[in-house]
Amino acid sequence: VMPLRAAAKAGRRRYGAAVSSELLGKDAGYRDLIRRECDIIVPEWEMKWYNIQKNPDRYDFSGCDKLAAFASENGMELRGHTLVWHLGLPDWAKTRLKEAQGRDVLHTWMNTLMTRYAGVVRSWDVVNEAVEPTDDRPDGLRESDWLAAFGTRYISDSFKMAAEIAPKAELVYNDYGTEHNARWSRDRRVAILRLLERVKGEGGRIDALGLQSHLRLGDPWDPKAFGEFLREVQDMGIKPIVTEMDVRADRASGDASAIDAKVADLYTSYLETVFANSRCDTVVTWGLTDRYTFQRRRYADDRPLPFDDDLNPKKAAAAVARILRDE
Ligand code: G3I
Repeated sequence: VMPLRAAAKAGRRRYGAAVSSELLGKDAGYRDLIRRECDIIVPEWEMKWYNIQKNPDRYDFSGCDKLAAFASENGMELRGHTLVWHLGLPDWAKTRLKEAQGRDVLHTWMNTLMTRYAGVVRSWDVVNEAVEPTDDRPDGLRESDWLAAFGTRYISDSFKMAAEIAPKAELVYNDYGTEHNARWSRDRRVAILRLLERVKGEGGRIDALGLQSHLRLGDPWDPKAFGEFLREVQDMGIKPIVTEMDVRADRASGDASAIDAKVADLYTSYLETVFANSRCDTVVTWGLTDRYTFQRRRYADDRPLPFDDDLNPKKAAAAVARILRDE
């Protein structure tokens, strides 16, 4: 199978995966696989605020610096994930953000991180997962420390701060659960479209919508409905990009080969739909090999990624290579 990085280049796109510096450091086979297959890497967790600044007076960039160096050495881009997230806050910040200098605390965090990695990060997930329709707010926003501290303008304020700090960066709103055709997904699409409109109305600039794309075999999948959503986003001048894709197979039946085929088919149908209905040029999977998927924390035998536990390409790898290469 053609390396995914090369296939993407042939199709004038980019492909990458979430990685951890710990794994890069201790598994040479995995490191070589990432080098061969990825043009982009994204820190699976090391760039989150709770890891970088456990205490107000100390930063720990060690993991991210290793990832930035690895990216630079291998001609890769590092994605910035993620600045403002309800699960990303260190405990001390949950209090400090709500005090009078709360906005300065946010600005210092964003400025410190964005400035340090300006040379290797081109695209930032500025705000992650800010909608939650089941929180029953009329605006569909998620109840969070961010909302409690700054009110609903925290989202456009974050994008304005990011634009001031890194004017040339691609500023991304990242979220999940829009992909399947179930009531829950449709509610999330409506809430996300309203968020995009709100930020625009409040003067923030969102360049791209990060579709996390955590899909699951067995959930309703309707390329037509999802295609219409993508067109609506693209028509707002916001480019959809795929930021965390995997295809959970925990409910699939059959032997490993049959499951791998079903997973490959959904990678195919989903990415064809994304490319047919938007100017998406970036596909990132949440990990590269089943050996290290975070999905196994929930389901030990899950097989959601393009490469298997032995780092060999699965049918999904061939499927993704074919789609990335197509003009
Ligand atoms: O392995 C380290 C260990 O060395 C360290 O001492 C310990 C102390 O914190 O942490 C261990 O790392 C854990 C890491 O997962 C291992 O991969 C972190 O605690 C744990 O917080 C981290 O969880 C990550 C989670 O986000 C929260 O940050 C998951 O890896 C990661 O897959 C998950 O990713 C999220 C995206 O950011 C947003 N979209 C959903 C996605 C899945 O939940």
